[in-house]
Amino acid sequence: MRKKIVAGNWKMNKTFEEAKALLSEVVNMISDEVTGDVEVVLCPPALYLAASRQYITSGGKVSLGAQNCHEKASGAYTGEISAPMLQSIGVDYVILGHSERRQYFGETNALLAEKVNIVLENGLTPIFCCGESRDLRENGDYIGFVKDQVTESLFHLSAESFAKIVIAYEPIWAIGTGLTASSAQAQDMHFELRQHIASQYGDAIAQDITILYGGSANEKNAAELFAQPDVDGGLIGGASLKSREFLTVVKARQ
Ligand code: G3P
Repeated sequence: MRKKIVAGNWKMNKTFEEAKALLSEVVNMISDEVTGDVEVVLCPPALYLAASRQYITSGGKVSLGAQNCHEKASGAYTGEISAPMLQSIGVDYVILGHSERRQYFGETNALLAEKVNIVLENGLTPIFCCGESRDLRENGDYIGFVKDQVTESLFHLSAESFAKIVIAYEPIWAIGTGLTASSAQAQDMHFELRQHIASQYGDAIAQDITILYGGSANEKNAAELFAQPDVDGGLIGGASLKSREFLTVVKARQ
């Protein structure tokens, strides 16, 4: 079933004290001010996930997400974190394939297919990121590129497994730049993705998949973005680090 989700990707930000303060502020503001059926997913740095649990009421509007995990369940992978570890501390979602991990850590569509598998196997929900570069947007088949990311990392899944995925379309040229995609650009790609999914899994699953937009989404533009028929919510970076701004984005989705 399509879900209204606003996820906050904190990336590599906040000391532990700052993280506890932000978590407490955001959860309290959501409890006091958010009345709709939006689900909020908070994705602090992995180091803080276990401690974050105490701030997140189970069965409430707020869930906990990780920003990545390894594709193996365990082993000699110094510094890495596994899906079973995340499951064991009550994490619900895992962001996979963020463009920064593809860029800085060489994550490929094939590797991400393995990560999607182990996240699903451990009962967690992948938030699978896809999106094109500025150059491709201006000079190439950017729609085909994004479709290929989905095909190569997700289309091996059974219909039942695929239906559990959340997709986040994050045009690279909009991430951290203030150059938000227009609501029409976001809607157009989300529509194309739904059509692509329908070609593989049928209309019912395509209509039920949750597709989030990410890339300089903030308190000023969220309402227009979320008003688009195929935009189900947002994956928020910078604006998720400020409680009032983030709450404005959440309330735009409720
Ligand atoms: O994962 C969300 C992130 O990539 C978007 O960042 O700062 O442009 O909202 P930002």
